[in-house]
Amino acid sequence: MSANNKVYLDNAATSPLDERVIDAMCDVMKTTYGNPSASHSIGRSARAVVETARKQIAKSISASANEIIFTSGGTEADNMALRCAIHDLGVSDIITSPIEHKAVLDTALQLEADGLATVHLVNVNDKGDVDLQHLSELASKHKGALISLMHANNEIGTLLPYQKVAEIAKENNCLFHSDTVQTMGHYHLNVEDFGADFLTCSAHKLNGPKGIGFLYVRNTAPIKTMITGGGQERSHRAGTENVIGIVGLAKALEIAFEHVVEEEQQIQNIKSYMREQLLEHVEGISFNGREESDKSLYTVLSCSVPPTNNNDLLLFQLDIEGICCSGGSACNSGAAKGSHVLEAIGHPTDRKALRFSFGRFTTKEDVDQAVSVLAKLVDKTVARV
Ligand SMILES: Cc1ncc(COP(=O)(O)O)c(C=O)c1O
Repeated sequence: MSANNKVYLDNAATSPLDERVIDAMCDVMKTTYGNPSASHSIGRSARAVVETARKQIAKSISASANEIIFTSGGTEADNMALRCAIHDLGVSDIITSPIEHKAVLDTALQLEADGLATVHLVNVNDKGDVDLQHLSELASKHKGALISLMHANNEIGTLLPYQKVAEIAKENNCLFHSDTVQTMGHYHLNVEDFGADFLTCSAHKLNGPKGIGFLYVRNTAPIKTMITGGGQERSHRAGTENVIGIVGLAKALEIAFEHVVEEEQQIQNIKSYMREQLLEHVEGISFNGREESDKSLYTVLSCSVPPTNNNDLLLFQLDIEGICCSGGSACNSGAAKGSHVLEAIGHPTDRKALRFSFGRFTTKEDVDQAVSVLAKLVDKTVARV
């Protein structure tokens, strides 16, 4: 529980800054104000800070420094991968899934609406697993396409068997982009093992600052640029670099990778504990996505609450009681905008989905508090027929 008596279980939306990240950024704020493009010594020292961070990040995922392009975060990195594949690499087909983050899905659909690409959606089942047979068929029909499939779904946590996807991509001469925003720093990702041409990262999902991330671009995918107006990032992304954010991102990743195995175990235990407690105390609760720990992101637990008299108010009531989490519903009428992910996996429209997501600072006491509040709210309002 945090100092303000709130229980924060929304780490997949954003995560609190680690003190060590704050310290690293404060040091740079105090000492390094130069423009990295300036040729004088003050500029050169800012350039050195940026390039040191780039090298460190690249090394941590076994990439080369020139394969890392700093961006304003995950959304921009996803946009860059898709748009540059179309504009610079001669791609005209995008194979993606209906449960991607909107940064991918809306971008793909916009490219299609602009007449620049054709989008093919691969089937997913009710757990959020991609149908690999269908993916294979689509890839062999549209050789040379860009396959864009996220590593872990941010709403329900289902993990992608990325090596199989990379094989399918290779067999069909396709490019492979994976949105790794929810997993970079949470697993020890390695670009060789992953086999993708593009990976995306956002610092604020791993206890780093908002507004900074990167796109990993394999050297064999020579993209040009999405943002013009300067020669920064080797002309791939114009604009004066966010030096403070870059330092924060590098520090956040360094800390994450340092204890990645222990932290995975610790957070997985919290998730399993919450699952057990919810089953024990909230009648009729069920879970979305995969149950197996090797098929589900350990930081996300998506639940499905039985119909209550006030489904729409549940999140609001949890918030009043100091529990911060996310929620969604599958809309049936199309009148209210529901979650496209829940809709695609066929989540019942009369049940409320709640996403609890955990991080480095989550405790068992947080879980106890959240379960006790939710159990009371559901018990009071469960629809009696
Ligand atoms: C899977 C996924 N991709 C992309 C993004 C967007 O990242 P950012 O907030 O850094 O733009 C998010 C954030 O919610 C996400 O969960």
